[in-house]
Amino acid sequence: MVNTSIFPPMEQIPEKFRLRHRVVQKEYLINGRLVKWDGRLQEVYSPVCIKAENGSISPYLIGEYPMLKAKESLEALDSAVAAYDHGRGTWPTMSLEQRIAHLEKFTLRMKEHREEVINLLMWEIGKTLTDSAKEFDRTVEYIRDTIEALKELDRVSSRFQIHQGIIGQIRRAPLGVVLCMGPFNYPLNETFTTLIPALIMGNTVIFKPPKYGVLLHQPLLTAFRDSFPPGVINTVYGDGPEVIGPLMESGKIDVLAFIGTSRVAGILKKQHPSPHRLRSVLGLEAKNPAIVLPGADLDLAVSECILGSLSYNGQRCTALKIIFVHESIAEEFIRRMAEGISSLKIGMPWDEKVQITPLPEEGKTDYLARLVNDAVSKGAKVVNAGGGESHHTFFSPALLYPVNGSMKVWTEEQFGPVVPVAPFKDIAEPLEYVTNSNYGQQISIFGKESDTIAKLIDPLVNQVCRLNINSQCQRGPDTFPFTGRKDSAEGTLSVSDALRVFSIRSLVAAKSTDQNKQIITTIVKEDKSNFLSTDFIF
Ligand code: G3H
Repeated sequence: MVNTSIFPPMEQIPEKFRLRHRVVQKEYLINGRLVKWDGRLQEVYSPVCIKAENGSISPYLIGEYPMLKAKESLEALDSAVAAYDHGRGTWPTMSLEQRIAHLEKFTLRMKEHREEVINLLMWEIGKTLTDSAKEFDRTVEYIRDTIEALKELDRVSSRFQIHQGIIGQIRRAPLGVVLCMGPFNYPLNETFTTLIPALIMGNTVIFKPPKYGVLLHQPLLTAFRDSFPPGVINTVYGDGPEVIGPLMESGKIDVLAFIGTSRVAGILKKQHPSPHRLRSVLGLEAKNPAIVLPGADLDLAVSECILGSLSYNGQRCTALKIIFVHESIAEEFIRRMAEGISSLKIGMPWDEKVQITPLPEEGKTDYLARLVNDAVSKGAKVVNAGGGESHHTFFSPALLYPVNGSMKVWTEEQFGPVVPVAPFKDIAEPLEYVTNSNYGQQISIFGKESDTIAKLIDPLVNQVCRLNINSQCQRGPDTFPFTGRKDSAEGTLSVSDALRVFSIRSLVAAKSTDQNKQIITTIVKEDKSNFLSTDFIF
């Protein structure tokens, strides 16, 4: 049974995690200024509900943020366009060394807000303390690794090449104005994995936080303002169609960096009047399967499948969203999965060792209940005790078995704590699932026989972009490429790939005549250009 006393009274929340006041954000960042908004504010309720003295449970209001209109959004665009100034602005023409100095300044300031941001991550999206801290630290590490990768890229680009009598120097140059939109499940990390490389490569940015996960960026606004030249970074908040539509329709967005659904990505791309001009880097849905082969180490498979399907309540694009298990071991696998799921600790994000927490999305528990009911009405059972029960924003993980192609959960990305398991007789069955799927991000294979695994690797790596052996699916380490096929992604992100995604190679070339050599030598010797230069950063 779901624990109906899961939500605490305020006095039971440890003092250090209580919000001292509501985070009422009225400002937005445009052209180096925090502009005050007098219009409508959006109330932000935490997924953590609070129990009143009379025992009633209510959503907890943690703050508000501005609901800007098209006018303000277009002002942000004008600011980013002016700061880029067709590539002639201070920021795009600045030396890399100087840009790095700005980013380092920002990182120092960002680190000062570590505790505040982590606390807001817990309150705003219900992520556990451990995972919220990991998200913050991983982001700081990502910035540091990006700077190192950039220095490496710069070292390679700082030499001249001579081919067929032509001298050339090839460097990566920015693309223009980048619109960055991150997802609610990693509102800080996944936003910054596009925002930071976009900035450091010399682009100017408009950044819109996701619907859930806005307030945690508020403490960083002054750091953004103080660390970058005016107009280099601008923020917008509000309804997507109201504030994002006009940006795309203007044709002035050069790169769309969006992590969300393929449906919205499709709408945004179509709004651009010259789609051929628009570069896109997209992280979209996935329905990553696991295949558990006969002879697999069941302890390992079960612990990885639980981690893979239920960490952060299954709200990861990389989560295992359907598990195929060979019929010969299905019963035992299900028994151990149910046991493992029952032992997961449920509670509030700051509770020690908590694994299952309340869900931030409005209407999510109802959606998950519909998904479970649909499967049950078509022959699946909720195998674990109390699975699928809900209480306000809390949904008890549901292990569904056996699932089949007639059920919604077979193809829909649940993005929540529902774990569908399907038995298979012949390996052709899960392979056919992968072939017919609209998604192609990752897969996990559990087994011990190298021959069998090898036979699966070759066809599967051409259908997904990462095959994990005896391990759950995941994005990290951030130095590895992160991408997907079909409706799962466009473009590749990793620390070094992201630098390429947000830039284009541009070169200076000259026939190798005495006069040209003289001109180039003088420019280089006298440090006359940031681009045509043999300097590199240590
Ligand atoms: O939501 C998608 C994230 O990129 C997943 O990242 O595998 O590190 O949790 P993760």
